[in-house]
Order: sequence, then structure tokens, then C-alpha cells
Amino acid sequence: MEKVGLAGCGALGSIIAKALIDGIDGYKLIGIADLDKPSFDVPVMSFEELATECDIIIEALPPAAVPELAKEVLQQNKTLILLSACALLIHPEILEMQKASTGRIRVPSGALAGLDAVSALGCADIKGAKIATTKPPAGLKAAPFVTLNNIDLDHLSEKKRIFEGTALDAAKAFPANVNVAATLSLAGIGPERTRVEVWADPHAADNTHEITVTGPESTITSKIENVPDPSNPKSSMQAAYSVISLLKRRTAAIALG
Ligand SMILES: NC(=O)c1ccc[n+]([C@@H]2O[C@H](COP(=O)([O-])OP(=O)(O)OC[C@H]3O[C@@H](n4cnc5c(N)ncnc54)[C@H](O)[C@@H]3O)[C@@H](O)[C@H]2O)c1
Repeated sequence: MEKVGLAGCGALGSIIAKALIDGIDGYKLIGIADLDKPSFDVPVMSFEELATECDIIIEALPPAAVPELAKEVLQQNKTLILLSACALLIHPEILEMQKASTGRIRVPSGALAGLDAVSALGCADIKGAKIATTKPPAGLKAAPFVTLNNIDLDHLSEKKRIFEGTALDAAKAFPANVNVAATLSLAGIGPERTRVEVWADPHAADNTHEITVTGPESTITSKIENVPDPSNPKSSMQAAYSVISLLKRRTAAIALG
């Protein structure tokens, strides 16, 4: 039985905590770290305690809190399952910390579809990778790029592209919105070469991510439409399910993907 700690028990963390408490074979949730008291009957721990007490620590924090957690987990040579993929681009020191550790970082597919095929094609050759993310305006509010450029999201009458650039720039501009782009870039051709578009659509109900990845041997296109989490419209519940799936695949007799 592997001991699991959860860092961050907001919209996604709560789904993961509930699944672990309901029971996932091979795992036991033994601690939760959050600024607020979680509504689960599980011991509250600091990041340091999670890293000391647990084998696997699941991260579901705001990206800014990730370096502190990663430091504790990697110093203890433990496994970090990391949802805030943007943090790996914004805080490259995390990858430096990993190099000095036997601990491992695992990035789930999150809200994205098609990552398995992208990783496979990455073992051969990828020439181009792009992702277009479309969200209802409410899911993009308060992003640094929106605030800095005074983008009015309240009076859109039609779908509007509000950002185009590299995955690296997108991660800095929309740290809570483009984890999928960060994940795609890590699976494919990196944050400088992966192109990202962010669209605000006043008529959209879902968070939609469309990828096109091209190589000499394959062209991958995928589209996923995710219902936003009711308690955090920036996030999609699919991302939490991808962590549960990753845990199940780690211990499965037959694992897909
Ligand atoms: N990989 C993906 O595809 C994907 C998809 C959606 C969301 N995400 C990311 O997953 C992360 C979690 O998303 P969410 O919707 O659950 O966020 P959320 O805001 O609902 O929850 C974050 C939780 O972290 C807690 N917290 C904040 N700072 C903390 C600190 N210093 N120490 C301890 N706890 C702290 C908050 O109290 C809150 O409960 C975000 O970074 C989000 O961008 C990733």
C-alpha cells in the first residue's frame, strides 16, 4: 500500500481526495496540505510532513506554490504527481532540483486529449505542435495577460483570440489556464517551439482544447470539450480524473496508455 499525500484540496484536489477515500487499490491517503481546512477527515499536514510521511505527493495547488512543495518532495526523493504543468515552465529551478534527486515528477494528461500519441511520435520526429484553447470569458478572468493588457472580457459579442505565442510565454501569461499547453510542450517539442492560441468565447459553455501535432510519419489532431469545474471555472474535472487514472495505471496488471 503506497502512502499518498495531497497538496491543495480545492476544485481538483477535492475530487482526487474523494476518490482516494472511496478507495483506489494500492493507495492510502494519509495527509492533506491546504491553506483552508479541508472538508475531509484526513490529517492536515505541512508540505514538509507530506514529503516525509508519503511515498507519492499529488500537487493541485496554484502554480506559485509549486516550487516550495517540489523542493520538499524532491529533497526526500519521493514521487510528485504534478497537475500545475505551467509551473515547470515558469519555475525551471524545479527541473534543476529534480536533477539532484532520485525523486520523480509525473505529469498526468490533465485536461488534454491525445498526449499518448504525441509522446509516441516524440520518440520519432515532431515538426510542429500547436494548441488552441477556448474558454468562456469567466475562465480567463484575472489572468496576468488579461489584467496587464486591460482586455475587456465582459462585453465580448463573439469569439475572440486574445493570445498567440509560445507555450513558454503562454504559461507566464495564463498560468492557471494553459497547463494543457505546458503539458503538450513537455511531451512534444518543448515550450519555445510549441505554439499556443487562447480564445475567449462568450457563447462557449465548455473549456475546449484542440491540438495539431505534425511529423513526417503522423499527423495528430485531437479536440476535447470539458465541462468547467463548478467551483473553479478555470479548471476542468477531467484533469482530476487524469490523476486518478494515472494512479490506477501505476498498479494495474494491464495498463493502457
Ligand atoms: N494539467 C491540467 O490540465 C490542469 C487542468 C486544470 C487545472 N490545472 C491546475 O491544477 C491546479 C489546481 O487546480 P484547482 O482548480 O484545484 O485550483 P483551486 O484554486 O480550486 O485549488 C487550489 C487549492 O490550493 C490551496 N492553496 C493555495 N496556496 C496554497 C499553499 N501555499 N499551501 C497549501 N495550499 C494552498 C487553496 O486553498 C486551494 O484549496 C491549478 O494550478 C490549475 O491551474 C491543471
